[in-house]
Amino acid sequence: MRPQNSQTQFSDRAAEYKTRVEQVMVDFVSAKKLQGRLGDAVNYAIATDGKRIRPLIVYATAELLGVPLTIADHPAAAIELVHIYSLVHDDLPAMDDDDLRRGKPTVHKQFDEAMGILVGDALLTFAFELLAESGVEPSLIVEWVRLLSIAGGANGMIAGQSKDLEGETSVLALDELEQMHRQKSGALIEAGLSMICSEVVTSTMGTGTNEADRLEGFGHHIGLAFQIRDDLLDVEGTTEQIGKPQGSDAASNKSTFASLLGVETARNRMHQELAAAQQQLTCFGERAEGLNWIAEYIVSRSK
Ligand code: IPE
Ligand code: IPE
Ligand code: MG
Ligand code: MG
Ligand code: MG
Repeated sequence: MRPQNSQTQFSDRAAEYKTRVEQVMVDFVSAKKLQGRLGDAVNYAIATDGKRIRPLIVYATAELLGVPLTIADHPAAAIELVHIYSLVHDDLPAMDDDDLRRGKPTVHKQFDEAMGILVGDALLTFAFELLAESGVEPSLIVEWVRLLSIAGGANGMIAGQSKDLEGETSVLALDELEQMHRQKSGALIEAGLSMICSEVVTSTMGTGTNEADRLEGFGHHIGLAFQIRDDLLDVEGTTEQIGKPQGSDAASNKSTFASLLGVETARNRMHQELAAAQQQLTCFGERAEGLNWIAEYIVSRSK
C-alpha cells in the first residue's frame, strides 16, 4: 500500500515531510506556552535548519509499510526532539565545545551554558510527553516509549557519547569505534524503523518478523554509514557548507573513522555499509523507494 506517493518522487515528498515534522514540533511546543528565556531558547533550538533525516526515515518506513502519516508524525517528531537535545548537549563546552550548529550560534553561545543544559533537558522530556499525548493505542505508546528510551539511553546514544569522549584521550580500536558510532548515531536512526514496525505489529494488519528484521538490518548498516559520512565531512567539508566548525574532531583529538583508517578507507567502508543496507531492501522492491533515496542521500550529502 503506497497511499500518498504514487504520483511524486520521494525527493519531492522529502521536502514535504521536513515541513510536516517541523510543524508537528512547533504545534506541540507552542501549545505548552513556554515563558521567557527558556521559551526563546527552546524555540531557537527547534527552529534551526536541520536535515530532519530521522523523521524522513520514519515517514519513508511508514510509506513502505502502509502506516498512516498521522500516526508516523508522533515517532518522527519525538525522535527529532531527542536528536536536537543530543546536539545541544553535544556542543556544550564540557563535550565538543562547538560554537556553531546548523549555521547559527549554538544554544549555549546564543543564550548561556545553563540554558544549553536546560533546553536539552526540556526537549528530551517533551519527546516522551509528545508520545504520551499521541492518542494512539496505549500499548503502542508503551512500546514507542520503550524503544525510544533504549535508543536514547545509557546503552544507546548516551553510551556512544560517553565512548566518544573517551576516544579523545585514547585511540579506540576499530570494533570499539564501530560500536560507538552505532550507539551515538545509529541507535536513534534504528529507532525510527523499529517504532514504525511496532505500529504494524500492534495494529490488526500484523507484519512478518522477516520484514521487521530486514528494516532493522537496514538501520544497522545505514546508521554506521551516516556517522562515517559525518566524520568525513569534518575533514573534507567547509564550515560554511556543514554549518558547524570544520575540523572540530581533529581539534579535540577525537577517534573517528577518518583518523583511524584514513579518508579513502573510511569512504570505502561507508560504501560497503550503504551496499549492505540497500541489500536489506531488495525484498521490498518499489515500496522501498524512500529508504533507498535516503540511503543514497546519507552517503552523498554535503552537510
Ligand atoms: C549530526 O546529525 C549529529 C550526528 C549524529 C552525527 P545530523 O547530521 O542529522 O544533523 P542535523 O540534524 O541535520 O543538523
Ligand atoms: C554527535 O556526534 C552525536 C550525537 C549528538 C549523539 P558528533 O559530535 O560527531 O556530531 P557533530 O559532528 O557535532 O554534529
Ligand atoms: Mg560529539
Ligand atoms: Mg559534535
Ligand atoms: Mg561529527
